Amino acid sequence: MTEPQWIAVATEADLFEGAGIAVRPIDDEIAIYKTEAGEVFATDNLCSHDGHGRLCDGFLEGHEIECPLHQGRFDIRSGDATMAPCVEAIRSYPAKVEDGKVWLKLVV
Ligand code: FES
Repeated sequence: MTEPQWIAVATEADLFEGAGIAVRPIDDEIAIYKTEAGEVFATDNLCSHDGHGRLCDGFLEGHEIECPLHQGRFDIRSGDATMAPCVEAIRSYPAKVEDGKVWLKLVV
């Protein structure tokens, strides 16, 4: 099995505090979030509820992202569902900012 590796997927300047952006370094779209405290996290971009909500368009409060479609929520640190109608976790990915770039640890 291929080991995950750090991949640069965006620049730090692409991020907005308190919101997410979408990137597609692999087949599935990934949302990258910057919290108001300046931390960076990454999860699947598609909501696990009906697979159409794009979390990059949702509302980020603390470490919770609210899906724009039916207002379910996930913890962006773990991908765990924290509010109905979301019950199934989404994937989360190791993320860091280094040299002005946003890096995700992925299997590519
Ligand atoms: Fe996200 Fe329904 S699609 S809560």
